[in-house]
Amino acid sequence: MKRGTFLKTLGFGTVSTLAGGAILSSCMNHDMATMTPAVAPDVLEGSFSTPLSFPETSLTGTALNAGSQNITTITGKNTQAWGYKNGILGPTFRIQSGSTVSIPFTNGLTEETNIHWHGILVPAAMDGHPDQMVMPGKTFNYSFKIDQRAGLSWYHPHPHEKTGKQVFMGLAGLFIIESAEEKAINLPAGAFELPLVIQDKRLNTSGGIDYRPTMDEVMIGYMGETIIVNGVHSPFHNVATRTYRLRVLNGSNGRIYNLALSNGNAFTVIGSDGGLLPAPETVTDLLLAPGERVDLLVDFSKSALNSEVYLQSSVFSGVNFQGRQAFKIVKFVVNKAETDSFKLPTSLPEIAPISSSATTKIRTFDIGVGMGTSGGHGGSMAMKGMHTINGKVYSGERIDESVPLNSTEIWEFNNSAGDEPHPMHLHGTFFQVVSRTGGRSRLIASEKGLKDTVLVMPGEKVRIIIKFTNAGKFAFHCHNLEHEDDGMMLNFEVK
Ligand code: C2O
Ligand code: CU
Repeated sequence: MKRGTFLKTLGFGTVSTLAGGAILSSCMNHDMATMTPAVAPDVLEGSFSTPLSFPETSLTGTALNAGSQNITTITGKNTQAWGYKNGILGPTFRIQSGSTVSIPFTNGLTEETNIHWHGILVPAAMDGHPDQMVMPGKTFNYSFKIDQRAGLSWYHPHPHEKTGKQVFMGLAGLFIIESAEEKAINLPAGAFELPLVIQDKRLNTSGGIDYRPTMDEVMIGYMGETIIVNGVHSPFHNVATRTYRLRVLNGSNGRIYNLALSNGNAFTVIGSDGGLLPAPETVTDLLLAPGERVDLLVDFSKSALNSEVYLQSSVFSGVNFQGRQAFKIVKFVVNKAETDSFKLPTSLPEIAPISSSATTKIRTFDIGVGMGTSGGHGGSMAMKGMHTINGKVYSGERIDESVPLNSTEIWEFNNSAGDEPHPMHLHGTFFQVVSRTGGRSRLIASEKGLKDTVLVMPGEKVRIIIKFTNAGKFAFHCHNLEHEDDGMMLNFEVK
């Protein structure tokens, strides 16, 4: 099918792209998978005429039901996606630190699933480890006490070999933890606080979500041509000339975004995975890998009244098969004059650095194998297990690393020989990033607070420091979900 026909089928009016004519040369239709080169499909921007919407907010535990849902938002047509309540995604929980939530979960799918609370320090039995499946038609009550600082976490399924598909079909949601400590800073709230889930989807000709990765796409991660924010394709949102708090999750399977404002203005990074940074940092662009979250302040008083500012993804280097195209994500229409008195304190609540003198062990993990760089992987006959950690493919029965409870360790992810980016995620704990050598050779703004996911680009070696205070069996893995499903995951046990 010709590209023009495909676009018309999707109902997209005009399509603009910052990549100019380059887009015409790539295969946009999955039916042409046999000729799809191993590069990210070019993003097809919509007209930015659909209002941004937000999943409903739940202030307490609310029942979640994984199942097929009717959606109209992506194409304007009726289609099916997966979700936890109404439509794609699930409700945004907004829970006070110190409280206990109880979330009855029903698996309304015809395959096993569960919920992993990504960035929430839950007991191992509640973590949604790939061991802990909820069978079709069955119910499980997730109940845990929130005992951590304020921040933006999220939830999604974690069945081994099916996480990529289930998240891509729409199963994910935000989980915001609030605290008195954070409230005291008086950050923009209410209508001025915008939770944004950024995802890329691939749509078939009838507008449905299409998840059928080829071998090539298992290698680079499954990416789509349609960027949605909170489930809406190319949305717009009206803003006033004041500061807004943008709380962004990259909920994509494999796509990395280099967040920037289309007018080139700087914005302020105030937080990441584990809540506020110890000090705000002003940047003009910021890489956000799958699984990572950032907390940003954008001052629209720097934009003229009645102007339009896009949150976009700028080009980035370091990877061969994505980052070459700039594309718009969401349009902000500055349509209301308003003066706010908001002033960000120069320092934010402290995060005590985990002292490396307490380190009892350094573990090294080779994540640079795959794509023909090492024996036994890749080659002409691509097969399962092309992605490994220390040469190992995931096995549910194996404990790969035994960690003494309350010990402090340094873990090193070594991607020096690799040619794919790997966002590495640990369950059950936050960590601090100690160093990055090779590649970008530095920590970026969002890596100076508490993290649970850290991007290790080709050529990089990243060291993190962790204090293990949560006992039990947990997984750690690459959050490129095709890599994870391909086996790039191990277990560690804290005891
Ligand atoms: Cu967000 Cu083990 O995952
Ligand atoms: Cu990976």
